[in-house]
Amino acid sequence: MSYIYQEYSRYFAQVAHPIEQLAAEELEELGATEVEPAYRGVHFDATPEVLYGIVYQARIPTRVLVPLMTFDCHSDNYLYQRAQELDWMSLIGVDKTFAIFATVAHSRIQHSKYAALKLKDAIVDSIRDQVGSRPSVERRNPDVSLNLHIDNNRATISLDAAGRSMHRRGYRLDALEAPLQETVAASIIRLTEWKADCKLLDPMCGSGTILAEALMVASKTPSGYLHERFGFDALPDFDADLWDALRKKIDSGITPIDKGLISGSDIDSEAIRLARKNLERLPYGNLVTMVTADFRDIEEWKDGVIVTNPPYGKRISPWQTIPEFYKEFGDFLKQRCTNTSAFIYVGEPALLKTVGLRTTWKKELVNGALEGRLAKYELYGGSKTSPRKAAAPQVDS
Ligand SMILES: C[S@@+](CC[C@H](N)C(=O)[O-])C[C@H]1O[C@@H](n2cnc3c(N)ncnc32)[C@H](O)[C@@H]1O
Repeated sequence: MSYIYQEYSRYFAQVAHPIEQLAAEELEELGATEVEPAYRGVHFDATPEVLYGIVYQARIPTRVLVPLMTFDCHSDNYLYQRAQELDWMSLIGVDKTFAIFATVAHSRIQHSKYAALKLKDAIVDSIRDQVGSRPSVERRNPDVSLNLHIDNNRATISLDAAGRSMHRRGYRLDALEAPLQETVAASIIRLTEWKADCKLLDPMCGSGTILAEALMVASKTPSGYLHERFGFDALPDFDADLWDALRKKIDSGITPIDKGLISGSDIDSEAIRLARKNLERLPYGNLVTMVTADFRDIEEWKDGVIVTNPPYGKRISPWQTIPEFYKEFGDFLKQRCTNTSAFIYVGEPALLKTVGLRTTWKKELVNGALEGRLAKYELYGGSKTSPRKAAAPQVDS
């Protein structure tokens, strides 16, 4: 039997809102064609080679879905019946584990968990009818990850081409306070337009997510580098030779960075210990400099880029409120950082008002449930030099 992706070679990358356009640009760079941003995602065409390359290298999407089947669906029984038409025995078989992630909107079937349960029953029953035994469900680390989307009573069953949420790069096994999602940190780096052409500092680096994503850009390390297996290897037409050759070619492009190009600091020595461990899982992570330091003790920083995600929450210390802390960081940027572009990411937009510096632009960027903002500041020096030209100054709210 043929699946709809085989007919149309069209796929869907899930992306956080409102960075669909940013993701569309990345997908085009990786060879996707007919790229069309939609709400919380991007549709695109790809050859198998381009699809494998996107899943292995894209930094911004959270999932890439390969549609298997789509149909009008007004009842759970119909979902159960139609889903049994797919050849689950060859897609999953009895020895692999699987998981289903479902979303439903504006449809007669109203509960995503119930929809997922119906699809699970269809899969298990169809395989059991054929061979007498069934595959197991495994939510955390399934061999095959499926997506069921029902919108306006139209159901689409897709295979997750990475086999996991793509923010799970595999380098961050440990984190302390409020870590950034890896895909959000990657989006931040892309929005700065930093091209590894000047030094980059995160003075409140926590577990090092911004540093790790910057390192992966500078060293051309693919986002999926630490993973062995990908969801696309369960596709019936998966081409193992093509994938092996492609992976070798992409990996051969990984290059060392100059020591000192990327550096991080944090007031918390435990955060620095974890950041080091996380960075060391990546190629050339040992070339990222990290020290325990209060940003107030950094005497001077010039001719580079600062990208950071300061703490938020009610208070950061018993003697200082969050607005006072942000004001102090704004003063640090103004007084000690020259010829530098600074990018501050906050989980609460109101915090940016307390920095006390004029923003060049602000952009909305969600981090999980947080309605975050990234702001750019240009810090000129005593000299007449202008700060390095970073991201295009497109001002929004
Ligand atoms: C929101 S967390 C950063 C999380 C980080 N982006 C990540 O993904 O793990 C803020 C960090 O600021 C650090 N911090 C707080 N006050 C600081 C100061 N005065 N100087 C340097 N770091 C500070 C905290 O220790 C914490 O690790």
